[in-house]
Amino acid sequence: MPAFDTVISGGRVVTGNDVISCDIGIRGGRIVTLGENLGAADHRIDARGKIVMPGGIDSHVHIAQPSGPGIIMADDFESGTRAAVCGGNTTVLPFCMQEKGQSLRSAVTAYHKLADRQCYTDYGFHLIVSDPTPQVLGQELPALIGDGYSSFKVFMTYEGLALTDEQILKVMTVAKETGALVMVHAENYDIIRFLTDKFEAEGRIAPRFHAASRPIPAEREATHRALTLAEVVGVPVVIVHVSNGEAIEEIARARARGLKVIAETCPQYLVLTAKDLEGLNMEGTKYVCSPPPRDAASQQACWDGLTRGAFDLFSSDHCPFRYDDPQGKLTPKGRTSFRWVPNGIPGVETRLPILFSEGVMQKRIDLPRFATLTATNHAKAYGLSPRKGSIAIGADADLVLWDPSITRKIAHADLHDGSDYTPYEGLEITGWPVLTMLRGAVIVENGRLTVPKGGGAFLPRAATSVL
Ligand code: URP
Ligand code: ZN
Ligand code: ZN
Repeated sequence: MPAFDTVISGGRVVTGNDVISCDIGIRGGRIVTLGENLGAADHRIDARGKIVMPGGIDSHVHIAQPSGPGIIMADDFESGTRAAVCGGNTTVLPFCMQEKGQSLRSAVTAYHKLADRQCYTDYGFHLIVSDPTPQVLGQELPALIGDGYSSFKVFMTYEGLALTDEQILKVMTVAKETGALVMVHAENYDIIRFLTDKFEAEGRIAPRFHAASRPIPAEREATHRALTLAEVVGVPVVIVHVSNGEAIEEIARARARGLKVIAETCPQYLVLTAKDLEGLNMEGTKYVCSPPPRDAASQQACWDGLTRGAFDLFSSDHCPFRYDDPQGKLTPKGRTSFRWVPNGIPGVETRLPILFSEGVMQKRIDLPRFATLTATNHAKAYGLSPRKGSIAIGADADLVLWDPSITRKIAHADLHDGSDYTPYEGLEITGWPVLTMLRGAVIVENGRLTVPKGGGAFLPRAATSVL
């Protein structure tokens, strides 16, 4: 009997801080050997000329999430995870949103029903806590954390989601007591409401005013406040989707005071700007997300942050809506103001190619840092390590072969999500994932799915291991 189910031979393998030329022996869905001239195998994959990377973990995606009256998210779990694997990901962590008045447990049950037997990737759920009642804080949340939902997001803005500072303090206290991790959407709700009302009263309702209504100070202040609340409770915190240098400075100051802060940024803050929201007619809605893309200086600050280690996580914040659709970006007539445009853009399939091309190929980051930012740190932060996120003996054989010689332009026609556009249309990319393997099985080869949906498994998660 061959020693291995599969051997991947001849590739440049990204392991921890190193890039080594070696073969990878896989048995029972796990990596069992890294070495030279490995023996017989049932299957052999020739990786000469390719880079072998840990499968991407996208720890910030929204799939099938209710998004307001008459608005429908463009991806269900089948299409969202299909796009994910075609873009070199093997695990995603979508959000399970509690609606006001709903028990967290019933929200979890409902999301499992949506995801069960639909996914191409492995997956877990972060919880969104929108109604922190005594029952939720005292019983439901601790029980769910024990069941493997070890992270939750709180919002400082958005109708129906924003929590008061006191509520956030209470949620953070549960995290402190249980070892869970709190993720914060940091934007000042009152500033946004004030500016939105003001712009509307002045007739300034075009998509570009979305960006103007959520200026950098609104993010900077809320970031500072979120960090202050975490400091008061004495709990680590994740600041998600950081878009600019002033928020990065707040994080640096809090770290210097001794607070453990995990910081995340996303592709939209590297390659889009607020100018993209100025498209003719309603085209600008294609770029409406929060925080909004900003200016060239903010882009540069985010690149600097990626290069010098200010960021731990690079996620997509995939939150897809269709463009040419009244249930999507073109909200029904009578709701023409930017206020009604659903916030969020698709990006789960393009996250890794954009960072590979603009980061690795442009020599802003090296291959080990790419793997750390896109897989390893996500596994460590969200309780999936050492099983996920690294090429190491004993880890799941979640692997992606990258061909650095491929050049292509991003085109929505080639992507696999449920939206009808990509905000990155036309962006020139060098390097693309050509084979995705989940737990030892090839699931995508040369852009084609090789398995039916449903092979992705739910991953109950432990507490964070970066703290
Ligand atoms: O605009 C965005 N980012 N929509 C997704 C929801 C969120 O705040 O992450
Ligand atoms: Zn958010
Ligand atoms: Zn998000």
